[in-house]
Amino acid sequence: MTAIYLFRCLLLLSVIALVGRSSAEKVNSSGGMVWSTARDEAELVEDSGVVIGEQDQIDGGFSSLDGMLHWAIGHSDPATLKEAAKDTQKMSMDELQKRQLELKELVEKLKLPSDAQLMQIAVSDLNNSSLSLEDRHRALQELLILVEPIDNANDLSKSGGLKVVAGELTHSDPDVRKLAAWVLGKASQNNPFVQEQVLQLGALTTLIKMVNSSSEEEAVKALFAVSALIRNNIAAQDMFYAAQGYIMLQDVMSNGSLDIKLRRKAVFLVGDLAEFQLQNTEKAELPIFSDRLFLQSVVDLIVVLDLDLQEKALEAIKNLLQLKSIEPLILRDFCGLEGALERMKLQLKESMADENMRDYAADVESLRAEVELIFRGKLGLL
Ligand SMILES: *[C@@H]1O[C@H](CO)[C@@H](O)[C@H](O)[C@H]1NC(C)=O
Ligand SMILES: *[C@@H]1O[C@H](CO)[C@@H](O)[C@H](O)[C@H]1NC(C)=O
Ligand SMILES: *[C@@H]1O[C@H](CO)[C@@H](O)[C@H](O)[C@H]1NC(C)=O
Ligand SMILES: *[C@@H]1O[C@H](CO)[C@@H](O)[C@H](O)[C@H]1NC(C)=O
Ligand SMILES: *[C@@H]1O[C@H](CO)[C@@H](O)[C@H](O)[C@H]1NC(C)=O
Repeated sequence: MTAIYLFRCLLLLSVIALVGRSSAEKVNSSGGMVWSTARDEAELVEDSGVVIGEQDQIDGGFSSLDGMLHWAIGHSDPATLKEAAKDTQKMSMDELQKRQLELKELVEKLKLPSDAQLMQIAVSDLNNSSLSLEDRHRALQELLILVEPIDNANDLSKSGGLKVVAGELTHSDPDVRKLAAWVLGKASQNNPFVQEQVLQLGALTTLIKMVNSSSEEEAVKALFAVSALIRNNIAAQDMFYAAQGYIMLQDVMSNGSLDIKLRRKAVFLVGDLAEFQLQNTEKAELPIFSDRLFLQSVVDLIVVLDLDLQEKALEAIKNLLQLKSIEPLILRDFCGLEGALERMKLQLKESMADENMRDYAADVESLRAEVELIFRGKLGLL
């Protein structure tokens, strides 16, 4: 039995419950609900357009199975539900009772599986090399939902599931690699235990290489996973440095033909690493913070015409400026920070004349002015 089958049964039950409720006469007068549907179960689910695995649904994320059921109910086609409800009204009491019994049996047989069981099914599916590509995608999409609660992520780690998922990072199919990176990233987010397990599996180096992928989606998810693995984690950040992750970041920041989302993520991570350093002064500063080419690639971003990217670059520079290893003269003379801030000021003035951008541009300008002030202070000009 595949996990997706179990999911469908769960969704089906929730849809049936809704149909039952929508038909007042069918509610047991003593308050109990009569399970009823006149349609073939599978058909109803398909008709209602309830298909787990759609990219946009997964993107939204479900915090739990319960959330997913609510989603299923909310997304069921009202016309289908209404029709089904009408059909049930035509059934005789005998027929209804028979349906009710059948559904009760089904519920008992299913014994609504726990998240741990669902994860185990998905993992053993993945661990089967004869699994079809489609089912492999589905198994990973299911894990994507299931690993969101922290206890589930820990369970997946303890049961050896993370190892199986990490193995998928080298699959020949880019979608499988993308989904595997996404699952590892989600499971590692704000979870030091899982971070360590994933690092021990050696996934960081693989993920850093994946950011170079020609598939944009794969690159974005790989960078997401790298960030989730090294955030707030000293050991991981040292491994990241050793694996030359900073060269990857530098390549992404300075490559103008790359997806803008990827470049935003890269500079955001730089700002985040610098902020973490500021909060953990006992930790030796990463040598990247004094690498002039690396700093230059950050500075260059503040004049790329994308307010979001510029804002993130300014945040990163604001944090970098406050580090011990930063040499303000290098930022001025080698990286051209002074001139870049000036040019940005003019750009922002133009943007502020545009009604649609005015407020955002004004916010970015006040951040820019703040960075300029800090920079002048560092240069001893105040
Ligand atoms: C209604 O519910 C009561 C108690 O829950 C039960 O005894 C009775 O059989 C139910 N009637 C129908 C028609 O299902
Ligand atoms: C692996 O998957 C194939 C195809 O889905 C299936 O026939 C087979 O039983 C599975 N093997 C195991 C060990 O589950
Ligand atoms: C995956 O399959 C291998 C054998 O092919 C087995 O040794 C391992 O325990 C399985 N892992 C999981 C998590 O099911
Ligand atoms: C990424 O690709 C570039 C250009 O092909 C190459 O120079 C670089 O070494 C690659 N980086 C990684 C981390 O694989
Ligand atoms: C920039 O990115 C493009 C698209 O991924 C890639 O083909 C190219 O090699 C990259 N340029 C450099 C200098 O790495």
